[in-house]
Amino acid sequence: MVNEHIKNLSPKSAGAVKSEKAIRLDKGELPFPPSPRVIKAISEAAATINRYPEILGGCLREALAKYTGAKKEQIVIGNGSDELIELAVKVFVKLGEEVLIPVPTFFVYWHSTQIIGANPVFVNRNPDFGLDVKILLNKISPRTKLIFIANPNNPTGNIVSRETIIEILKNVECAVVVDECYYEICQSTVVDLIEKYQNLIVLRSFSKSFGLAGVRIGYAITNEALADYFYRAAQLFPVNKLALVAAEAALSDLEYVNDNLKKICQEREILSQELEKIGLQVYPSKTNFLFVRTKKLGIPSSELVKALSARQIFVADFGLKPGLDAYYFRTAVGTATENQALLAGLKEAIAEFSIK
Ligand SMILES: Cc1ncc(COP(=O)(O)O)c(C=O)c1O
Repeated sequence: MVNEHIKNLSPKSAGAVKSEKAIRLDKGELPFPPSPRVIKAISEAAATINRYPEILGGCLREALAKYTGAKKEQIVIGNGSDELIELAVKVFVKLGEEVLIPVPTFFVYWHSTQIIGANPVFVNRNPDFGLDVKILLNKISPRTKLIFIANPNNPTGNIVSRETIIEILKNVECAVVVDECYYEICQSTVVDLIEKYQNLIVLRSFSKSFGLAGVRIGYAITNEALADYFYRAAQLFPVNKLALVAAEAALSDLEYVNDNLKKICQEREILSQELEKIGLQVYPSKTNFLFVRTKKLGIPSSELVKALSARQIFVADFGLKPGLDAYYFRTAVGTATENQALLAGLKEAIAEFSIK
């Protein structure tokens, strides 16, 4: 009964059991709670959840128009940017068509492509994880309908320049999604280009900088015509009421967001230097995580990640993921205490490997 392309998807697993005291650096989350205004707004809205949320996101769309400088008709609100990635595939791609994905990058791009029976086409990034536009354009075929560019990129943390994105937009006829999930941390955007390039869709998220990963809310910014098609393809009520009020309250407290991000950027530099001191190679990052290479130590990342998880310290293994060899992991930047725990755990694990 089940479609062949669904049978080919990997099963989901719940992951390792985490204790209350676990150090959770594997999902790229903000280590701080949301603004007190968010908690108040959710508590107040909880009494009205017998009613459906507003269609098209209600007041949040207007608040986002103000925040982004776009028109409210150019904004599509979704159940996390994950939902908008899936929606982009549904809007532009059919069974058997192709989606270009520069790798290494965020797995949801190819997962969403495979869900509808389309084909992800991987394009290797340069050794420094930059994008070679020529190589990318060479992979375009008549079946290519969509290109995903995470900017900054997850897991590598680097950014591609505005000029590079413009060069791609100018030279392709298909849709181009620029995923700015980490916008508030890196402050670099191409939102101002959505009118000039009618094939551009920018994605943003409340999960990282605003600390709302648990309520699931993100948005797309594109021209009005495409935004309308996105809404046609979306569910009637994709975003729950508590997420809508949470996001609106979070936007009203940008000072809280900026204070948190300042702390994260400071901690990121300290953690990066300390990781280098213990023999790991750390890539420059414009995000709230660090991408780390374990090759110099000669220890495959899967082994280090396993040794850390035995200590209830969780980071994400990227060994042998598309576009990568066996020596990479990603860690979120946590609080100073969490980062110290990570460093201590790594030192112990590395010492164990040198005894073996
Ligand atoms: C590049 C990128 N895009 C999108 C997402 C998903 O964000 P959301 O929580 O809004 O679905 C992530 C999450 O890690 C990400 O790294």
